[in-house]
Amino acid sequence: MIKIIFVCLGNICRSPLAEAIFQHKVNQKGLQDKISSDSAGTANYHVGDDPDTRSIAVAVKHGVPIQHKGQQFHHTHGEAFDYIMAMDQSNHRNIIHELGYKHEGLFLMRDFDPDGKGEEVPDPYYGGADGFENVYQMLDRSCDELLEYIVKEHNL
Ligand code: 4NP
Repeated sequence: MIKIIFVCLGNICRSPLAEAIFQHKVNQKGLQDKISSDSAGTANYHVGDDPDTRSIAVAVKHGVPIQHKGQQFHHTHGEAFDYIMAMDQSNHRNIIHELGYKHEGLFLMRDFDPDGKGEEVPDPYYGGADGFENVYQMLDRSCDELLEYIVKEHNL
């Protein structure tokens, strides 16, 4: 099983949405026995919480099932996951700090976005619904390319 974890700050807006979109694509391709996804936050503010209602709303709007309980990113996730996807540069730095080493499967999510390679997925927490739709579109594009990359890399 190839394991992937999406990481943001709070684990209620961006990363549970990324997990839901990615897992939906995995399921649609019948790869659910080969790839599994999870998400976490670098902060502990929302441990045990459901995703933000605006992330749930944008997922439902696009027909993507979403269910997650907030958890904090922990250094043991480094060994447990093949891929760690940071939403922004701050998350990326905090992940390296928590791990204490450079994980070879650590990427910025938008390293895989054909429309904005290497840019950040902006934190939509303090904005409105259009911010969540914007985040959804970036994640959707990035998840397509990421899944294609993993399929090729592992001959799935
Ligand atoms: P996320 O958004 O990192 O995409 O889950 C945030 C959620 C909550 C907070 C910050 C960002 N917060 O400060 O509580």
